[in-house]
This record gives sequence, C-alpha cells and structure tokens, in this order.
Amino acid sequence: MNSEKIVKILFAASEMYPLIKTGGLADVAGALPDALLNAGAEVRVVLPSYRGVVEQLDSVEELISLGDIGLSPAVGEVKVLQGTLSSLKTIIWLIDCPAMFERDGGPYQDENGEDWEDNMLRFALFSKAIAMLGVMGEQSGWQPDIIHLNDWQTGMVAAWLHSWNVQQPKTVFTIHNLQYQGVFPAESLARIGLPQELYSIDGLEYYGQISFLKAGLYYANQITAVSPSYAQEIQSAEMGMGLEGLLRSRRESLCGILNGVDSVQWNPATDRVLHTNYSKNSLAKRLQNRNELKARIGLRDGQGPLFGLVSRLTSQKGIDLFVEAAPALLNAGAQFAVLGSGDSDLESALLQLAREWQGEFAVEIDYDESLAHLFMAGSDLLLVPSRFEPCGLTQLYALRYGALPLVRRTGGLADTVDKQSGFLFENIDSGELQECMFTALNSYRDSLQSGSGEWEQRQQYAMEQEFGWGKSAQNYIECYRALGADLIE
Ligand code: ADP
Ligand code: GLC
Repeated sequence: MNSEKIVKILFAASEMYPLIKTGGLADVAGALPDALLNAGAEVRVVLPSYRGVVEQLDSVEELISLGDIGLSPAVGEVKVLQGTLSSLKTIIWLIDCPAMFERDGGPYQDENGEDWEDNMLRFALFSKAIAMLGVMGEQSGWQPDIIHLNDWQTGMVAAWLHSWNVQQPKTVFTIHNLQYQGVFPAESLARIGLPQELYSIDGLEYYGQISFLKAGLYYANQITAVSPSYAQEIQSAEMGMGLEGLLRSRRESLCGILNGVDSVQWNPATDRVLHTNYSKNSLAKRLQNRNELKARIGLRDGQGPLFGLVSRLTSQKGIDLFVEAAPALLNAGAQFAVLGSGDSDLESALLQLAREWQGEFAVEIDYDESLAHLFMAGSDLLLVPSRFEPCGLTQLYALRYGALPLVRRTGGLADTVDKQSGFLFENIDSGELQECMFTALNSYRDSLQSGSGEWEQRQQYAMEQEFGWGKSAQNYIECYRALGADLIE
C-alpha cells in the first residue's frame, strides 16, 4: 500500500443505522463508511445478517460461501451476502448464519432484555468470518488492506489474524465503550478453535476468563477511541475498567478521533419527521415543535424551560443522578420530557416521577427514532449527565437542533460542549447536576424576561458548531495510511 493507492477498508460492526440499532455505534457505522468513501477510500461494511435486515436492502446476492467455519458446536453453513441500500454508497456484506442470527429479539439480547446465552459463539462466528474475508480476496473479489473493528463483538478478528500469522490486512480497533468487554469462560477458547497458547496474560486471558475486547486491544495494529478525552481517560485506573494497564502499554498506538453527525439525517431545516422545519435564522419556529412535543407526550403549558433526555437507561448515563436532581427543578416550574428504555429500576424511578408530577414530567419508555428527532427540535435543553461518555451523539444532535446540551464534563461531552454552547458540571454528584440545571433555568428565564435575546444567541452559536463526519474520516484515513507505511518497510 502506498500513498497513491486507494485504501480498501472492511468496516466491521455489530449494528448499523438504519438496518439495526441499539445505540451510537449504529449511527457511526451508518455514516462513517460513506464519509471514508468520500475521502477517497474504498469501503465495505460487514455486519451479521440479523432477522429482518435482508428485507430492508434494495438489492442482495450471495457473494461466497465460507462453508462450515469450524466452531463447536457446528453452526451450519456460513454465507456472505452482498447488498446495497439506496441511502448509502457503501456496499454492505452480511454474515449469514441462520442458527446464530435469524431470531426475534435484539442483536445482543432476547425480547426480555437478557443477553443471548450463545453470544460467545455468535460473535466468535462473526469475527472468524470477517477474519476469513480478510484473507480471501481472490475468492470474494475484494481484498481489504485494513479491517476496521468496532467494539468487543469484532475483537476476535485480530486474534484470528494473529494466530494465522497474517501480515495483511492490518487492523484498527475502535473503542466505543470499554464497559462492554465480551468476557466468557476460558473453555470457550477450545470451542472457538483458537490455539490454547493465546490463553495468556499477553493475549486473551482476562482474570481467569477470556475477553473479546481484550483480543482487539491486544492484537490490533492500531487502537482508536471515539474522542480525544476518552482516549486519555481510559488509561487511568479510575476509568480504565481493568484494562488501563494494557491501554497504557499501547499508548503509542492509541489515539482519539471524535465522532461526527450525519448531517442528512440530523438537519432541522430538512428533517422530514418535523412538521415545522427551522434554521438558526428562524428560531421562533422552534416553538411549534415544542408545542407538538408537549402535546404528544402529555405536558401542560408551563413557564419552562423544557429539559429533554433521550438515552439508553443505564448507570453509564447518570439517570439515577437525574432522578435525584429533578424534583427541586419541578418545584421551581421546570418541565421534563424523557425518552428511553433500559434498566428496569431506572424505568420505574422515572415512571414514579411521572405519576407524581403528571403534566410536568413525562416519560416514554420506548425506543423511537422519530420521536428522538422531535425531542431535539422541541426541548430547550438536552440533558446528558453521564458517569462516563466515550463520545456521545445526542449532545451533537442537540447542538444542531438548538437544544442547549447540559452535560457532565467527561469524555466526548467535554470535547464537544463549551460554556457558550451549553452547560457543564464536573463531578458525578446529583447536587452539582441540580445546581447546573438551576443555572440553565435562570439563564433561560432571564433572557426571556429581559428580552436580551441571549438565549437565542447561544442557540445560534450551538447550531453553528461543526461536527461533520468529513474531518473524522480524514483522521481515520491518516491512521490507516500510517499502518500502510509500516507495510512498505
Ligand atoms: P450510546 O451509544 O452510549 O447509547 P450515543 O449518544 O452515542 O450513546 O448514541 C445514542 C443513539 O441512540 C442516538 O442516536 C440517540 O438518539 C439514540 N437513542 C438512545 N435512546 C433512544 C430512544 N429511547 N429512542 C430513540 N433513540 C434513542
Ligand atoms: C458508545 C458510547 C457513546 C458513543 C457511541 C458511538 O455507545 O457509549 O458515547 O457515542 O458508542 O461511538
């Protein structure tokens, strides 16, 4: 690979918008590949052929069969399908294995929210198939230079390539979330078929078990995290989730590249979900979106501001801090709109607040992509009080839609929100969150009462912030090319 040659990237992810989504990784996999393509790379995305995915494609054909790929117990024939989506330039490869992926429920969990019991085998299979595609260019007709791995579900690809002693393709492993580590019993190694010598502290072993995430962190040629701050934070004992030592030892190969916003999906001037489109020059129209949001979720007229929250409901997101902080704000006349689903204790606590504060605090326990857009267009502020946040995309959408983000200063939130575009608090502390919410409330009301227009100026400034995918794609291409230079030597 030299600098004139087009870099061929196989981008591997376990979810991708609009085909299958549980969180931000899907947004990244749905937008970054086309941005890489626009920046001059050749790209294929590879993901599992979950139930319902093929039906959404505009065209699909069988690319190759990988046969029985040697896992125990056997999972049947594995095929690779090739398809296209009209909304995307990148070609999509699907790993088709009905025994593993053709079922109702989510990509990682069943319909009751329990992890699939065979996740080890499912993502071992996904990873092995990807690794095989990395060395089967002649059969598939397309030989990648780089396999870009994302999160634990793809970590084992790097272990396979290592065990086969393959020099090309090189691998880049992107950390979207260090909390999910893909940890399974040590015996799994035999079922996957990887050599036993990989079961070592200098390898896959992780506290007496094996970790798919560690496989990626240990064997990938280059590691990236989804924001510069998070790339630093995870090297500390406080935030490294047990992997800080390994990450520190690899710090020369670790960098942070910020995610972007898909500016076609997320643009208030053209968003088809909204009945009233607007831009930074027609902010008054936002009011109609707020009214619509309030009517839709059952909030009364109030003096405001309206705080929105759109999130997975997990401890990462600081929802418990929010539950503690909200009542004092409600007493002061603020209103809240929450859209989320996740841990049942957090869902219950939010529903309890909604019962106590009917008309002032509304909760939708749901995952609703369209409603998320209306939340961004109708809320005055968007809350992201995370304990940790690798990048965070909702605050970027909020900025674009003029909902000022109120965030904890951590990870990607610290890298994307400033004192002018939003509100920040420092520590994992409901009192600090509450204080910050009061600051925002006062600033909102002062601006309204004095007619100073200060709030609108802040909204305009927020909407002018540039977080396009183009810059991120350039950074990734540099990272790929650095690996290519290695190859030439
Ligand atoms: P994470 O990936 O940790 O969940 P991000 O902020 O990176 O956090 O991405 C979350 C993505 O999921 C955003 O696109 C957000 O709009 C979406 N999302 C989260 N919860 C919901 C929900 N309940 N309904 C609709 N979209 C949601
Ligand atoms: C993860 C992180 C989130 C990030 C997303 C996409 O889910 O929790 O912060 O934005 O991945 O990179």
